[in-house]
Parts: sequence; C-alpha cells; structure tokens
Amino acid sequence: MEFHFPRIFTLFSSVLLCFLLLPFRSFSQISLPPSPAPEAAGLGPVAVFSVLSFGAVGDGVTDDTPAFKMAWDTACQTKSATLLVPHQYSFMIQSTIFTGPCKSGLVLQIDGTLMPPDGPNSWPKSNNRRQWLVFYRVNGISMQGGGLIDGRGEKWWNLPCKPHKGVNGKRLHGPCDSPVAIRFFMSSNLTVQGLKIKNSPQFHFRFDGCQDVRIDSLYITAPPQSPNTDGIHIENTNNVKIYNSVVSNGDDCVSIGAGCYNVDIRNITCDPSHGISIGSLGMHNTRACVSNITVSDSVVKNSDNGVRIKTWQGGSGSVSKVTFNNIHMESVKNPIIIDQYYCLSKGCPNQTSALHISDILYANIKGTYDIRSRPLHLACSDRVPCTNLTFSEVELLPAKGNFLSDPFCWNAYGDLRTLTIPPVSCLSEGIPQSILENYVDQC
Ligand SMILES: *[C@@H]1O[C@H](CO)[C@@H](O)[C@H](O)[C@H]1NC(C)=O
Ligand SMILES: *[C@@H]1O[C@H](CO)[C@@H](O)[C@H](O)[C@H]1NC(C)=O
Ligand SMILES: *[C@@H]1O[C@H](CO)[C@@H](O)[C@H](O)[C@H]1NC(C)=O
Ligand SMILES: *[C@@H]1O[C@H](CO)[C@@H](O)[C@H](O)[C@H]1NC(C)=O
Ligand SMILES: *[C@@H]1O[C@H](CO)[C@@H](O)[C@H](O)[C@H]1NC(C)=O
Repeated sequence: MEFHFPRIFTLFSSVLLCFLLLPFRSFSQISLPPSPAPEAAGLGPVAVFSVLSFGAVGDGVTDDTPAFKMAWDTACQTKSATLLVPHQYSFMIQSTIFTGPCKSGLVLQIDGTLMPPDGPNSWPKSNNRRQWLVFYRVNGISMQGGGLIDGRGEKWWNLPCKPHKGVNGKRLHGPCDSPVAIRFFMSSNLTVQGLKIKNSPQFHFRFDGCQDVRIDSLYITAPPQSPNTDGIHIENTNNVKIYNSVVSNGDDCVSIGAGCYNVDIRNITCDPSHGISIGSLGMHNTRACVSNITVSDSVVKNSDNGVRIKTWQGGSGSVSKVTFNNIHMESVKNPIIIDQYYCLSKGCPNQTSALHISDILYANIKGTYDIRSRPLHLACSDRVPCTNLTFSEVELLPAKGNFLSDPFCWNAYGDLRTLTIPPVSCLSEGIPQSILENYVDQC
C-alpha cells in the first residue's frame, strides 16, 4: 500500500523532517558502534556493525530480534558494511524477514551462534511457521563466517503429523508446517559460504526466485530420520553454483525444483541423505521446466538415492540437458533413478500427461549399491518416454555379496557409450515415434 500526499505537503514535510531529524542524525552517528573502520587492502574503510552495539545480548535466551532488525537496517543502508554476529555469543531470534534492497557489498558475518525459539510451542502464534530467517529482495549479499546456525528442529520433527511419528507409523492430523531455516527470496548475486548449519525444522536452505547464487563450503547436518530436512533446495532460481559442501541429513542432500536452469554442483558429499534430486516436479498437474544442470565430482554414501529425477504423473514441461559426471556411490539404494510415477500415497491414478525427460548423461558413476534395490531404475512415463539417456563408464557393484540385480527400464530410450556394470540391456534405441510426431515442448 502507498500513500500519495499532495506535492506541496510532501515538500513541506520533507523540509520539516530534515530539521527534525538533523539532531537525531548526528546523535545516531555518535551512538553508532565504535566503528573500527579497518582499511581493507585498497578498498577503503569498511563499516562493521556488531549486533551487540544495537543491544543484542547473546545469552541464548533473550529475544535479540529487535537488535538484529536495527543492525540490519543500519548495515543495509551503508555501502560495503559488515553486519557482525560475534564469536562466543548465542543469539535467539524470532522468525524475521530481512528486506532489501541494500547498498552494495553487504556482508553478514556469522561467527557466533544463531538460533530460533525452541520448537512449535515457543513459536509465537502470530509468526510465520513456514520460515525462520528470510532475506527478501536483497542483492549482492555475502553470508559467511565460522559460526553455527542451530535450527533446533527436534520438537518440530516430533510433531505427530510427521511421517513415522504417529501410532503404528501413521501420520496424525494437526498443524504440520515447520519452518525452513534460511530462505532467500527474490534476491540476486548471493554468496553463502563457510557456515555450519544443523537441525533445521524443515529445509536448511531454500532459494526461490533468485539469480546468481554461489554456495561454497557449507557443512549441513541433521539426523538421518529427521523429516523434510533437505540440505539445499532451489526453485525458480538460475545461475547457481554449489561447491565443496558436506550434507548429512534425513532428506534430499540437494533438491532442484521447477524453474531452475544453469546450475553447477561440484564436490558435494552426501552421507547419509536421500541423494541429489531433480524434483519432485509436476505435482497437481503443474508445468515445470528444468535444464542445464551439472552435478560432478561428488560422493553419495549410505543414502536412499544417488542421483534422482522424480516427477508426478499429470505434469507438463521438461527436464533436459542434465549431466551427472564423476559421482562415487557407496551403499546407495538407488544410485541412478528416474521415477516418473512419484506419489506420496498409494492412490495416485494414472494420468496421460507427463514431463519429458531428455538429454541426460550419466558418466563415470562408480561404486556400490545397497542390494535391497536396483542399481539403475529408469521408470519413464507411459505416454512421454525419456529420450537420449546416455550411459558412459557406469560401474555399480553390490555393497554386499555377489548378486547383481538387473537394471529396470520402462519406456527409456538412449545409448550406452561404454559397457556398463551391470549391463543395461533394457534401454530402447532411437527416438520413439510418439516424441517425433506429437510432442511439443512447452518450456
Ligand atoms: C555482486 O556483489 C558483489 C558484492 O558482494 C559486488 O562486488 C558485485 O559488483 C556484484 N555484482 C553484480 C553483477 O551486481
Ligand atoms: C571438496 O570439499 C571439501 C569439503 O568442503 C574440501 O575439504 C575439499 O578441499 C574440496 N576439494 C576440492 C578439490 O576442492
Ligand atoms: C549452462 O550452465 C552453465 C553454468 O552452470 C553456464 O556456464 C552455461 O553457459 C550454460 N549453458 C547454456 C547453454 O546456457
Ligand atoms: C498405471 O500404469 C502402470 C504402468 O503402465 C501400471 O503398471 C499400473 O497398473 C497402472 N495403474 C492403474 C491404477 O491403472
Ligand atoms: C543427447 O544428449 C547429449 C548429452 O547427454 C548431447 O550432447 C546430445 O546432443 C544429445 N543428442 C541429441 C540428438 O539431442
């Protein structure tokens, strides 16, 4: 909502405001933190705003939200500012939206611990229960430091509505929303590096509607049974680099949702986790387009899946130009899986539309699989076959024993560039007539 004052009033009031604010302005400059203004090599003075200077206590109990908001507002309006969360303090903050745009070069330096209120009963009723810390319309921020973000997720995971928490493994009804720990929304030119984050109530990081994102050296942990604790989730986000990070959790290590393209993932270790996923896509008959995704030089261990593409029946759009290269698997249940029948209940009816999966390269994928599942599972849509799946240097052996289970293919078209272990003889050659004749790419 916006107010429109008559012009003359605006002019008058701004003159008045200047007079009113002048004394406060100089006062607030004096009351600013004892700014050390270090000379960063050749970059001029750097303003450092510690949250302590804005009244944050950092004892892990006091609500430090107001201090963080004030510190944010000040740092955001200062060029090349550092907002410092100092070492050896623990700050409890409520669900907050930090809004931009900010002056360029903002650094959020987290050297201490950040945490939310402990569980759903301590979450104020009026606060959003789907997100904790949100950065909205922020461009050119770097979030970094040697500190810890502790999501205190346990009481959220134990809500009776979560999988496996009800009696006899049933989910019970009740409010089930849980907050994403860190969300970047409609932001660009972001760097997140060096942080440790643990036990998020839901996804640890979620980027949506963002561009130019660089993630490096994150260390993400949550227990193997914690529900929906995806490490890094991106959607409607492009030009993303996710490098050198370690994830250990109870859901997808990295998940790539609708509307993502130009994503480069390198040197990620997932152990344990549900693997690296594209999807799920196409839920409730939605359209999704995902393309130009590369995952390379990574390790997946003790996980339910290795590299997965999952789509719901009834969706539209496509997943194309995806490369999985040089991935080491260890005791992974489904190292290579395409599942176009993704369904969270047993009652998903067969539908006629589906996303088209094409131009997927699996190269140099080696290691062992958990013998409870198949090493390759390519379940493509009945109506829209997967096309141009390429396999090169795929060698997957059982983690225990000598029993080789056969790959499974359904409507999967493509080529083997080299012999594979196990041999994939179920792949169809060429391009099916239905794709050549009727298929229109909606992306
Ligand atoms: C991205 O942000 C950095 C500071 O974090 C800044 O130096 C750079 O100019 C920004 N790039 C663009 C394209 O805005
Ligand atoms: C891969 O990531 C790990 C964990 O961050 C790091 O220790 C290692 O140096 C990285 N390797 C390369 C080649 O960058
Ligand atoms: C694919 O994504 C990479 C970044 O991961 C980018 O460098 C490249 O230009 C993209 N390719 C196309 C055709 O857009
Ligand atoms: C749906 O399609 C699959 C694959 O063709 C088939 O095995 C399954 O029986 C079908 N389910 C129903 C409910 O028709
Ligand atoms: C098949 O996919 C590969 C990458 O996996 C790509 O290089 C090639 O151009 C694709 N072929 C066609 C006919 O699109």
